[in-house]
Amino acid sequence: MPVTISINGQTRSIDAPESTPLLWVIRDTLNLTGTKFGCGMAMCGACTVHLDGQPVRSCSTPISLAKGKNVTTIEGVGKINHKAIAVQNAWTELQVPQCGYCQSGQIMSAVALLEKNPTPSDDDIDAAMGGNICRCATYVRIRSAIKLAAKQIAATEQTI
Ligand code: FES
Ligand code: FES
Repeated sequence: MPVTISINGQTRSIDAPESTPLLWVIRDTLNLTGTKFGCGMAMCGACTVHLDGQPVRSCSTPISLAKGKNVTTIEGVGKINHKAIAVQNAWTELQVPQCGYCQSGQIMSAVALLEKNPTPSDDDIDAAMGGNICRCATYVRIRSAIKLAAKQIAATEQTI
Protein backbone atom coordinates (compact mmCIF):
# COMPACT_ATOMS: atom_id res chain seq x y z
CA MET A 1 0.00 0.00 0.00
CA PRO A 2 1.45 3.42 -0.94
CA VAL A 3 2.82 5.64 1.83
CA THR A 4 1.86 9.33 1.67
CA ILE A 5 4.43 11.84 2.81
CA SER A 6 4.74 15.61 2.64
CA ILE A 7 8.09 16.70 1.26
CA ASN A 8 9.18 20.30 0.78
CA GLY A 9 5.53 21.33 1.00
CA GLN A 10 4.24 18.84 -1.56
CA THR A 11 2.24 15.70 -0.85
CA ARG A 12 3.68 12.62 -2.52
CA SER A 13 2.43 9.05 -2.65
CA ILE A 14 5.29 6.56 -2.43
CA ASP A 15 4.87 2.99 -3.63
CA ALA A 16 7.40 1.27 -1.38
CA PRO A 17 7.43 -0.88 1.76
CA GLU A 18 7.08 1.09 4.97
CA SER A 19 10.52 -0.05 6.08
CA THR A 20 12.21 1.62 3.10
CA PRO A 21 14.79 4.16 4.29
CA LEU A 22 13.63 7.71 3.75
CA LEU A 23 16.94 8.47 2.02
CA TRP A 24 16.20 5.90 -0.71
CA VAL A 25 12.85 7.55 -1.37
CA ILE A 26 14.31 11.06 -1.38
CA ARG A 27 17.14 10.24 -3.77
CA ASP A 28 15.92 7.35 -5.91
CA THR A 29 12.15 7.85 -6.06
CA LEU A 30 11.86 11.64 -5.83
CA ASN A 31 15.21 12.38 -7.48
CA LEU A 32 16.17 14.94 -4.81
CA THR A 33 19.87 14.19 -4.92
CA GLY A 34 21.08 17.07 -2.74
CA THR A 35 20.76 14.76 0.26
CA LYS A 36 23.77 12.46 0.27
CA PHE A 37 24.48 8.85 1.14
CA GLY A 38 27.58 8.51 3.29
CA CYS A 39 27.78 5.68 5.81
CA GLY A 40 24.20 4.36 5.72
CA MET A 41 24.48 3.72 9.46
CA ALA A 42 23.45 7.03 11.09
CA MET A 43 27.10 7.80 11.77
CA CYS A 44 28.12 10.62 9.42
CA GLY A 45 25.21 13.06 8.95
CA ALA A 46 25.51 13.35 5.15
CA CYS A 47 21.87 12.28 4.80
CA THR A 48 20.43 14.77 7.33
CA VAL A 49 16.94 16.11 6.56
CA HIS A 50 14.26 17.65 8.77
CA LEU A 51 11.22 15.80 10.02
CA ASP A 52 8.82 18.42 11.38
CA GLY A 53 11.85 20.70 11.76
CA GLN A 54 13.96 18.19 13.68
CA PRO A 55 17.19 16.91 12.10
CA VAL A 56 17.11 13.17 11.37
CA ARG A 57 19.40 10.73 9.62
CA SER A 58 17.31 9.76 6.62
CA CYS A 59 19.45 6.67 5.90
CA SER A 60 18.16 5.05 9.06
CA THR A 61 14.64 6.52 9.18
CA PRO A 62 11.97 4.25 7.67
CA ILE A 63 9.34 6.06 5.61
CA SER A 64 6.70 4.81 8.05
CA LEU A 65 8.07 7.41 10.52
CA ALA A 66 7.55 10.19 7.97
CA LYS A 67 3.83 9.49 7.54
CA GLY A 68 1.83 12.58 8.53
CA LYS A 69 4.99 14.64 9.04
CA ASN A 70 6.72 17.31 6.99
CA VAL A 71 9.98 16.24 5.43
CA THR A 72 12.32 19.04 4.38
CA THR A 73 15.43 18.53 2.29
CA ILE A 74 18.20 20.86 1.21
CA GLU A 75 16.22 21.61 -1.97
CA GLY A 76 13.27 22.98 0.00
CA VAL A 77 14.64 24.33 3.26
CA GLY A 78 15.34 27.83 1.90
CA LYS A 79 11.71 28.18 0.81
CA ILE A 80 10.30 26.91 4.10
CA ASN A 81 12.66 28.38 6.69
CA HIS A 82 14.01 31.94 6.35
CA LYS A 83 16.94 31.11 8.64
CA ALA A 84 18.12 28.64 6.03
CA ILE A 85 18.68 31.47 3.56
CA ALA A 86 20.96 33.22 6.06
CA VAL A 87 22.81 29.96 6.65
CA GLN A 88 23.25 29.32 2.93
CA ASN A 89 24.42 32.92 2.38
CA ALA A 90 26.95 32.59 5.19
CA TRP A 91 28.18 29.29 3.72
CA THR A 92 28.72 31.04 0.41
CA GLU A 93 30.29 34.17 1.89
CA LEU A 94 32.83 32.20 3.92
CA GLN A 95 33.34 29.60 1.18
CA VAL A 96 32.71 26.76 3.60
CA PRO A 97 32.54 23.76 1.22
CA GLN A 98 35.60 22.02 -0.05
CA CYS A 99 34.52 18.87 -1.96
CA GLY A 100 30.96 19.67 -0.85
CA TYR A 101 29.78 16.11 -0.23
CA CYS A 102 28.86 16.57 3.43
CA GLN A 103 27.59 20.12 3.15
CA SER A 104 23.87 19.64 2.62
CA GLY A 105 23.79 17.61 5.82
CA GLN A 106 25.88 20.25 7.58
CA ILE A 107 23.50 23.01 6.50
CA MET A 108 20.41 21.06 7.59
CA SER A 109 21.95 20.49 11.03
CA ALA A 110 23.02 24.14 11.27
CA VAL A 111 19.51 25.39 10.45
CA ALA A 112 18.01 23.09 13.10
CA LEU A 113 20.58 24.33 15.63
CA LEU A 114 19.75 28.00 14.97
CA GLU A 115 16.04 27.25 15.30
CA LYS A 116 16.66 25.95 18.81
CA ASN A 117 19.49 28.26 19.82
CA PRO A 118 19.79 31.64 18.04
CA THR A 119 23.14 32.49 19.67
CA PRO A 120 25.12 29.26 19.91
CA SER A 121 28.54 29.23 21.58
CA ASP A 122 31.45 27.23 20.19
CA ASP A 123 30.54 24.40 22.57
CA ASP A 124 26.90 24.51 21.48
CA ILE A 125 27.97 24.32 17.83
CA ASP A 126 30.36 21.47 18.47
CA ALA A 127 27.69 19.56 20.43
CA ALA A 128 25.02 20.05 17.76
CA MET A 129 27.25 19.51 14.74
CA GLY A 130 29.58 16.86 16.13
CA GLY A 131 27.72 14.05 14.40
CA ASN A 132 28.17 15.65 10.98
CA ILE A 133 31.48 14.37 9.65
CA CYS A 134 33.49 16.34 7.09
CA ARG A 135 36.35 14.44 5.50
CA CYS A 136 37.71 17.76 4.21
CA ALA A 137 37.76 19.11 7.78
CA THR A 138 35.84 22.32 7.12
CA TYR A 139 34.84 22.48 10.77
CA VAL A 140 36.42 25.86 11.52
CA ARG A 141 34.62 27.50 8.59
CA ILE A 142 31.36 25.77 9.52
CA ARG A 143 31.59 27.23 13.01
CA SER A 144 32.30 30.70 11.63
CA ALA A 145 29.44 30.47 9.14
CA ILE A 146 26.96 29.47 11.83
CA LYS A 147 27.98 32.51 13.88
CA LEU A 148 27.74 34.78 10.84
CA ALA A 149 24.29 33.41 10.02
CA ALA A 150 23.19 33.91 13.63
CA LYS A 151 24.25 37.58 13.43
CA GLN A 152 22.48 38.09 10.12
CA ILE A 153 19.30 36.45 11.39
CA ALA A 154 19.35 38.63 14.54
CA ALA A 155 19.87 41.78 12.47
CA THR A 156 17.00 40.85 10.13
CA GLU A 157 14.66 40.06 13.01
CA GLN A 158 15.41 43.42 14.66
CA THR A 159 14.22 45.23 11.55
CA ILE A 160 10.93 43.30 11.29
S1 FES B 1 24.48 8.30 5.40
FE1 FES B 1 23.10 8.65 6.99
S2 FES B 1 24.32 9.18 8.68
FE2 FES B 1 25.75 8.60 7.15
S1 FES C 1 33.46 19.41 2.29
FE1 FES C 1 34.32 17.50 1.66
S2 FES C 1 33.48 16.08 3.09
FE2 FES C 1 32.90 18.01 3.85
